[in-house]
Amino acid sequence: MIELKPAVNASWWQTGIIYQIYPRSFMDSNGDGIGDLTGILKNLDYLQWLGVDAIWISPIYPSPMADFGYDISDHTAVNSIFGTLEDFDQLLDQAHARNIKVILDFVPNHTSEEHPWFVQSRSSRDNPKRSWYIWADPAADGGPPNNWVSNFGGPAWTFDQQTGQYYYHAYLPEQPDVNWRNPEVEAAMMGVMRFWLERGVDGFRVDALRQIFKDDQLRDNPINPDYELEQGPYKKLLPLHTTDLPEALAAVERMRQTLDDYSERVLIGELYLPFERLVAYYGTNGAGCHLPFNFHLIFTHWDAAAIATLIQRYEAALPAYGWPNWVLGNHDKARIASRIGKEQARIAAMLLLTLRGTPTLYYGDEIGLQDVPIPPDQVQDPYELNVPGLGLGRDPERTPMQWSAEKNAGFTTGQPWLPLAADYPTQNVAAQQQDPHSILSLHRRLIALRRQEPALREGAYRWVQSQGTLLAYVRHAAEQQFLVILNLGDEPAQFCPPDQALQGQVIVSSNPAHEGQTVSEAVTVQGNEGLLIRLSS
Ligand code: NOJ
Repeated sequence: MIELKPAVNASWWQTGIIYQIYPRSFMDSNGDGIGDLTGILKNLDYLQWLGVDAIWISPIYPSPMADFGYDISDHTAVNSIFGTLEDFDQLLDQAHARNIKVILDFVPNHTSEEHPWFVQSRSSRDNPKRSWYIWADPAADGGPPNNWVSNFGGPAWTFDQQTGQYYYHAYLPEQPDVNWRNPEVEAAMMGVMRFWLERGVDGFRVDALRQIFKDDQLRDNPINPDYELEQGPYKKLLPLHTTDLPEALAAVERMRQTLDDYSERVLIGELYLPFERLVAYYGTNGAGCHLPFNFHLIFTHWDAAAIATLIQRYEAALPAYGWPNWVLGNHDKARIASRIGKEQARIAAMLLLTLRGTPTLYYGDEIGLQDVPIPPDQVQDPYELNVPGLGLGRDPERTPMQWSAEKNAGFTTGQPWLPLAADYPTQNVAAQQQDPHSILSLHRRLIALRRQEPALREGAYRWVQSQGTLLAYVRHAAEQQFLVILNLGDEPAQFCPPDQALQGQVIVSSNPAHEGQTVSEAVTVQGNEGLLIRLSS
């Protein structure tokens, strides 16, 4: 039996729930078909009603939008598509007035090719900003300096005719990587953090954090022996010399020092890494990221034993100072309701909101949005355009939020930048708010309970059983104990408590008709059902 300790003096980013907003797709207030800051502002009441504690907003900065904002041309301004700096300040004030924290995306690994730093850097070999980016001479045959490949397919090096060298880009050629080995770059990036911290933002989600340092000798990456075609060209190599270098860990601690000059801010790292490497990003004695994003639920086989093992492996890997966190989806991965189906998406919500650790909820998952098929002539994502047909494109999970049955789901009065799901007339916030059986109502009940109950918010986790399709665990603090039983299959299954008679009351069920029922001894859990039971002490 695994027993894991509760939090002591927990901070907001430990007890709270983070909600990710993809700003292009949340709410359009000016009819241009693209979401904006005023659109977010207008829906703060909804977010407060839902009960989330913080919003993380994907990039809002000036950008040519080659990678939809992850190609920044000015780090300290707001893209006019999204509004103005004044709109941002107003959003921040209004969010804070509702006790909602605001986390911004910080993109330190690369800029847009249109960023003035890169414009200068590429202008000549002796420009003072030349070494702000990663330039290298061609190989002997005139080709790229080494075999590194871009995350979006194709070589990671682009030749610059004017100066006769290649520059490195982990993503698009329009997104040159900066050179973190140059202290001036680091100082400039810390300045970017300070700019927003001074304005009052509550923290950052740091983009592509494992990539910020690359091998200084530019050694070839080894071939991936397990590569399969459908994984896309980036997976042909093992990114040994382009990701997760020790220098990155040290830089994270310096970012954290900048952040710690301000009180109660959070540093979240985007880190696709196995657990043993992921936990290194908490830093020495916790001096790094508060929350190195744990994406493992996105990739796991949806099976009770597999998930139980995953939780156990994560908990076992966490250092004493490491606070856990869980993510089910984001703007880069297929939506949970498409990965495991609409019925199981409700079970996934119960899992996310009852596990030990900070949950991050991706906008639209609370109403069970599914990936929307994008006709080839409407594809926007550069990844899909570069590597078509493998299902790697990210447009399907970025479609507009479905607010109501009105035209365009109430998202815009214009032409939405991506198509809406055909089911929006019935699957939308307004309809689901009225329906106690909806996945939205389920999220809201779970969030409310989590806010109210220390055992769920900060309590210890104890694995109870993973048998057949059932996964069962207990969350407890002081006198309170909650038993969570999740049926990951679509057939009824019998839960028999392993070591004690079961007495309690169903507080939340994915089927509200079962809420309030008292249970004693064995419980029959319906297919696709999850139960949260308050155990009698
Ligand atoms: C990760 C972001 O989440 C993704 O959307 C982006 O394309 C890359 N980093 C590059 O910034």
